[in-house]
Amino acid sequence: MRIGVFCSGGDAPGMNPCVRAVVRRAISAGHEVVGIQYGYKGLLSEDFFLNAAGEPRMTLRSVSGWSKAGGAKLRSSRCAEFQTEAGLVKAAGILDKHGIDALIPIGGDGTFRGAVDLMKHWGGRVVGCPGTIDNDLVGTDFTIGFSTAVQTAVEAVDKIRDTAESHERMFLVEVMGRHSGYIALYTALACGAEGVCIPETDTVVAEIADQLRVLEERGKTSVMIIVAEGDERGGAFDLQRSLVQYGYPAKTRVVILGHLQRGGCPSPEDRILASRLGDFAVSSLENGETAMMAGVRGGKNTLTPMEATFGKRKPLPDDLMELLKTLAM
Ligand code: F6P
Repeated sequence: MRIGVFCSGGDAPGMNPCVRAVVRRAISAGHEVVGIQYGYKGLLSEDFFLNAAGEPRMTLRSVSGWSKAGGAKLRSSRCAEFQTEAGLVKAAGILDKHGIDALIPIGGDGTFRGAVDLMKHWGGRVVGCPGTIDNDLVGTDFTIGFSTAVQTAVEAVDKIRDTAESHERMFLVEVMGRHSGYIALYTALACGAEGVCIPETDTVVAEIADQLRVLEERGKTSVMIIVAEGDERGGAFDLQRSLVQYGYPAKTRVVILGHLQRGGCPSPEDRILASRLGDFAVSSLENGETAMMAGVRGGKNTLTPMEATFGKRKPLPDDLMELLKTLAM
């Protein structure tokens, strides 16, 4: 098989070890791997990774040192042209022209939507790997990049807690998660935050203010509220404004962690997940699978129809929400 591999959408720590696994696993079984740079945008401009000999084919050495590398060495992008009919037809023609039989896209919901659309025009096989810090894809317990993003957010919030304690302040820390509260909830739980605001649950300002008063009465002097950027009430600045409007003293500080969460060396969990999924994506293609996303659920490799992985919210673990409330006393 001639397999095209690419990263698409927001980069996620662990995309590189995933590409490394695809390349090494595929080559060891006698396949060829073409690295497509800049995701769908690079596919449309035929921008392929060149090996040391200048050929558009990845070798075992092309991915040396990629286990620990942050970012996306193949580069990534979001591509508007690919969302058009003409773009999809053009992409299909390019794949055929280069003799590519199968694709392994590494990305999130937008990437898989794109792959599903492409398959309406192209006869090759596609098995994707979930790569997004948001952990918002159905069909896998965790996505590649989530563990590292949480680790980064936790390190930041721990530092903010130090200054919060020194000045006896409340901080509203905004983390990423466009439609999902996974990063916020896991960060909040790991940091012992007093509250979390996420798109999956209603954020009621009056309730937060009441809870803060109770905590103050119990002698709490510093408070951390973790806010997902996609919370239905808006981000951390919006929540700060709402609390002030509600009469809560305007002594809070806001920190937005932003893209910090997308960088850095992948955590061991992400490296292992990425390696496992890269390997599994190749073996799934060998078994004739297509239109699937490789995932790990309950410790087992699983395939989920790509179409079922997006457009539907992956539920948050209720027990963790409850635990956060119980412990934030
Ligand atoms: O999907 C990953 C993500 O990091 C989201 O959490 C965030 O909303 C978005 O990408 C940001 O995208 P961009 O880098 O294009 O601003």
